[in-house]
Amino acid sequence: MGDSKVEDNFTNNTHGAQFEAKDLITFDENAVYGDWRDEFHKNGCVVIKNVISKERAEYYAAEQMEWLKSFDLGFDEKDPSTYTAEHLPVSFKGGMYMSYCSSHEKMSWEARTEPAVVEIFERLWGTKELICSFDGMNISLPNRKDISWSPWPHCDQNKRRKGMQAVQGLLNYAPNGDKDGGLVLMKGSAKLFNEFFAREDRESYAHEDAPPPEMEFMDLFLFSQNDVKWFEERGCELVKINMEPGDFVLWDSRTMHYAKFPEGNQIRHVQYICMTPRQFANEEALKAKKECFEKWQGTTHWPHCNIRPTDDAPMRDGKPCPKNRLEPRKKPILTDQLLRLAGVKAY
Ligand SMILES: [Fe+2]
Repeated sequence: MGDSKVEDNFTNNTHGAQFEAKDLITFDENAVYGDWRDEFHKNGCVVIKNVISKERAEYYAAEQMEWLKSFDLGFDEKDPSTYTAEHLPVSFKGGMYMSYCSSHEKMSWEARTEPAVVEIFERLWGTKELICSFDGMNISLPNRKDISWSPWPHCDQNKRRKGMQAVQGLLNYAPNGDKDGGLVLMKGSAKLFNEFFAREDRESYAHEDAPPPEMEFMDLFLFSQNDVKWFEERGCELVKINMEPGDFVLWDSRTMHYAKFPEGNQIRHVQYICMTPRQFANEEALKAKKECFEKWQGTTHWPHCNIRPTDDAPMRDGKPCPKNRLEPRKKPILTDQLLRLAGVKAY
C-alpha cells in the first residue's frame, strides 16, 4: 500500500451505531510525495486542476441541465423566472439533488469512472480496490428569489471516528469565482478535529437547515459562529475554492466546509464523488450497499459505512413529490468496474 498502511481491525465498522475509535489507515508523517498529496496531507484539502477536459465538463453540465428539464415542471434555463422550486425537482440548500435516483444516473457513474478521477483516489489511498459513495450532485441556479440561504459550516465525520476515515471530493463542471456558488473550506481544520472534540460539551449547532434528529445523520456536525472562531484563532482559514471546469477538489471529511450559494449569474454544476478502500467496509455495509444499488437509491458521502438509503420520496409542499422516480432517467452501463466501485462485485 505504498506509503500508507491500512489497519486490519475494523470489525465495528457498520452503518449502525458503532464507530471506529481508531485510525483505519496511517500515513507516514514525513513522506514526501512530490504531487498534490503533499498539500492534501498538510491542509486536509487540495484542488487538482484539469482532471477532465473542458469539453467533458461541458458535456456533464449539459447532461445535468437536460436532467433538470426532464421533470417537465416548466424549468427553462433561458428564463430566470422559472428558477423557482415549483419548476424544479426537490433539492436541499437550493441545489443539492440526492433523490430521484440521481446518484445512479448514467452521467453520475460516468463521472465516477472517469479514469483520472479514479486515479486520484487510487493514489490517495494506495490501493486500486476502491468502493465509491452513492452521492448526489449540485446544480445551483443563481438569482433565486424563492429561497433564503445562510452558510452552514459543518463536517461530515462523527466526532467518535478517529483519524482520516473518509475523503470527499467533487468534480466541477462550470467556472466559479469569488461571487459564484462553490465550496468553502476551513483550511487546516481536519488536523484540529480531535482537539476540538476533546471537549465533551460540543453540541451540533441548531442551524435552521439542520436535519431533524430522527434522520440520524450520524456523520454530520454543524458548527456555530463561535466554533468557526475557535478554528480561526488556531490559524485555520475559511477559503472559497474557485474552480475551472474540469477541476477536482478533495477534502478530508473532518474538514469544516459548506457550499456557498451563487451571488453572481453563473450556474454551478458539480458531481460529489467519494471513494475509500473496499477493505474499510464490513459484510453488513456491503450488503446494505448492494441493496441500495439494486433499488437505485442514493446514500451518504460515506462509501464504506453509514449506508443510509434515501428511500423516501422527496417532499413537495408536504406531500411526496409526484415526479419521484424509482429508476434513473438514463441508466448507467453496468461494467465490471462500475459494479466493483458500487461494492456489488468483489475485486
Ligand atoms: Fe458536507
